Amino acid sequence: MSHWNDEHANRYDEQWGELDFHQQIPGLAGVQSGFNVVELGCGGGYLSVCLAQSAVNVRVTALDPTAKMIALAQARQQRAGLSKAQLQFFEAGAESLDVSDNTQDLVVAAFSVHHWQSPAQSMALVYSALKSGGKIWLCEDLNAPTEGNIEVHSDLKALDGLKSLLQNSGFVQISHTVHRNHEGKFLIVEALKL
Ligand SMILES: C[S@@+](CC[C@H](N)C(=O)[O-])C[C@H]1O[C@@H](n2cnc3c(N)ncnc32)[C@H](O)[C@@H]1O
Repeated sequence: MSHWNDEHANRYDEQWGELDFHQQIPGLAGVQSGFNVVELGCGGGYLSVCLAQSAVNVRVTALDPTAKMIALAQARQQRAGLSKAQLQFFEAGAESLDVSDNTQDLVVAAFSVHHWQSPAQSMALVYSALKSGGKIWLCEDLNAPTEGNIEVHSDLKALDGLKSLLQNSGFVQISHTVHRNHEGKFLIVEALKL
């Protein structure tokens, strides 16, 4: 759906790539030691690094279809000194998620679901990837301006759209909260696979 070029990626990363909110996400999402975590639409990888560093023996698989974003992410990984066993990036959209079924404890998508090419198809892959009891954790920026001329699923920037997508994909115990900090107002939606 969204076609991010190098300029979009650089501009986005400079302005929004490293938020204090990203640092808070591992705690908000409940990362625990030994977790297998998938991050979808990881952008320049700052959150991926925060997730990988948040507890011992966490393994993060992070995807983004924009080549420039993956280049920025790999540079951040190198600066952070994280190994490929701790954090691995793939140039791929959520619709190409390719991990073994029932292996992941947590799937995170920050400000990304509204960009996905095929949200229902991707969410089915997320559901299969999660272990029973595993969690999907999503957030959207309630104050964000629309990203220039990039086409997005605007219904998936809001609670009702995200809830329907999760319900239709089989998730249960869907809950939400609004998190505020000095950077903005963030909608968080979480749900479980039973
Ligand atoms: C608003 S940025 C968010 C980046 C990062 N998650 C963050 O918190 O800064 C949206 C990201 O979604 C990615 N994206 C675009 N199409 C996608 C798709 N089909 N699947 C997953 N991510 C996609 C873009 O390349 C971009 O990096």
